[in-house]
Amino acid sequence: MIVCKTKAELRSQLARLRREGDLGFVPTMGALHDGHIELVRQARRENARVVVSIFVNPTQFGPNEDFEVYPRDVDGDRAKLEAAGVDVLFLPEVAEIYPEGSETVVETQHLARILVGKLRPGHFRGVTTVVAKLFNLVQPERAYFGEKDYQQLQVIRRMVEDLDFPIEVVGVPTVREADGLAMSSRNMRLTPEDRAAAVVLNRALDAAQAHVAEGPTNVTSLRRLVHETLAEEPRGTVEAVDIRCATTLNPVRGAIEKPVVILLAVRFGDVLLIDQRVVAHPAVAWRNAAE
Ligand code: PAF
Repeated sequence: MIVCKTKAELRSQLARLRREGDLGFVPTMGALHDGHIELVRQARRENARVVVSIFVNPTQFGPNEDFEVYPRDVDGDRAKLEAAGVDVLFLPEVAEIYPEGSETVVETQHLARILVGKLRPGHFRGVTTVVAKLFNLVQPERAYFGEKDYQQLQVIRRMVEDLDFPIEVVGVPTVREADGLAMSSRNMRLTPEDRAAAVVLNRALDAAQAHVAEGPTNVTSLRRLVHETLAEEPRGTVEAVDIRCATTLNPVRGAIEKPVVILLAVRFGDVLLIDQRVVAHPAVAWRNAAE
């Protein structure tokens, strides 16, 4: 695995590799777990060469957020990426990505300001700015993102379409621990008690999925069921339960007639966990697929 720390090194290595076939790209902030490695595995299957970046991007953290304490384990990450067959690791310093004088940003106008964007103002602007820069540097055929960060995935899809990046954005299903907790670099900051309690997010999503599969329902009963299930675990503070159109993320009211995404944000101590599930009544899912 070639490790590049500067944009110049990266460009020159990629100029050579590009001649060997398609490039798949997995942008990350490090502290890699099986969820990230799943993105790499899929990229491996679908491309001749795989590039991964590790960059804890300061512009997507708010002033009171966890940038300083965000987990970092570069040696462990390098070993995992090497074992997963990554060709190039891009490992820049902050000044390499944001040199003195940088001031241009990339932002989706609407999608960045709703849901998580409301709880974390400026977060998605930081994400789209850094991802646009990384896309310009790597110029991959395909880029891989976890469905777990569902809104991030939709924001990036929007940016790619709006700015005509010739890149296919691939969403990869969430990888879960044995008890159902979605894998996340933040999980390691949970206390043992909170770690045990955090499984309630997946339990609430399972309950919601089963409820929708049973027959026609509406947003009010679905929301009530999710809140009731989350309330079984008082260690978590529910920050958000949103039920939105699975593609536009617009609010849905009344009967559930199209696939909806349930987006959860629950705080345990100072760790904000998110999880999501797209649900649809089987007949609805079938009708949509057939349309
Ligand atoms: O999902 C992440 O790890 C980050 O938001 C990303 C996409 C690497 C941008 O910094």
